Amino acid sequence: MTKLKKDGSKIVNVACVPQRSPFRYPGGKTWLVPQVRRWLSIRRSRPSILIEPFAGGGIVSLTAAFEHLADRVVMVEVDVDVAAVWQCILGSDGPWLAERIISFPMSADSVREELLSPPANLRERAFQTILRNRTNHGGILAPGSGLIKHGENGKGISSRWYPDTLRRRILDIVQIKDKITFIQGDGLKVMSNYLDDPDVVFFVDPPYTAGNRGKRAGRRLYTHNTIDHEELFKLSGCAVGDVLLTYDYDEYVIKMAEAHGFSFQPICMKNTHHTTMQELLICRELDWVEQPRRLGEQSQLLLMDV
Ligand SMILES: C[S@@+](CC[C@H](N)C(=O)[O-])C[C@H]1O[C@@H](n2cnc3c(N)ncnc32)[C@H](O)[C@@H]1O
Repeated sequence: MTKLKKDGSKIVNVACVPQRSPFRYPGGKTWLVPQVRRWLSIRRSRPSILIEPFAGGGIVSLTAAFEHLADRVVMVEVDVDVAAVWQCILGSDGPWLAERIISFPMSADSVREELLSPPANLRERAFQTILRNRTNHGGILAPGSGLIKHGENGKGISSRWYPDTLRRRILDIVQIKDKITFIQGDGLKVMSNYLDDPDVVFFVDPPYTAGNRGKRAGRRLYTHNTIDHEELFKLSGCAVGDVLLTYDYDEYVIKMAEAHGFSFQPICMKNTHHTTMQELLICRELDWVEQPRRLGEQSQLLLMDV
């Protein structure tokens, strides 16, 4: 549902965008789903493969798979903990993970005790990752992040622990898992294998803050947070198929985009604290982006964090 505010700007209420990921992912792109749907629907035929080389919580891949926006989806993620969740769900341990979540007796003590012991196998690693993601501040899994103390409505550590919802999301993904291939590894390497195929499209949401270039301290959202951005633009510029990139708004990024033949458009979003943030959409053609109704209007997307 899209509403118009008094000042004419638009709010897309992402409560109407199905939340399909078991993660509450920092930098997650649920708010961008309406635009991604447009991007994937403009072409004459459905892409044969959508590749998401920096998958994280994977909302774009999941949306494409559930909504038949691409024949197949390839998700890539380098972080072994995040990867364990996808390997577990897209392998044969999704039902086990769903049951493990449902039966966990949630309390601050049980979380601390569970996270003390190193995981014995991949599926325990997956469970611990979801537990940390849902009980750490901001869902941040990077070293240095701590457990939620007060949380929403004083619910403390359990304020983002929705076992039934998580179970349902995991079992829903299990139903369509044959459409998704997951690769634990370097997104740039995987991209380079598909550059010549015109039926392959790439949704690229790399880890990025201006802190990557040392100009201001970047918030440490991810364990793996530095990549070669020049190389990423070089690869994206060589791809025969379409590429949609998202980045923080930054002059340095705009220069790289222009140097490789891309157009860019700032897009506004509001986070749960009602802070308006600006990001960049980067693509060869951007005429499919939902345009503001009048000059000077900004599209705003309201992010609901569940
Ligand atoms: C901005 S987040 C992606 C968020 C995702 N679009 C979502 O909606 O949840 C970037 C992700 O890239 C991952 N990453 C960092 N370096 C990578 C690499 N070389 N290859 C693959 N993934 C990488 C990080 O671990 C992080 O999960």
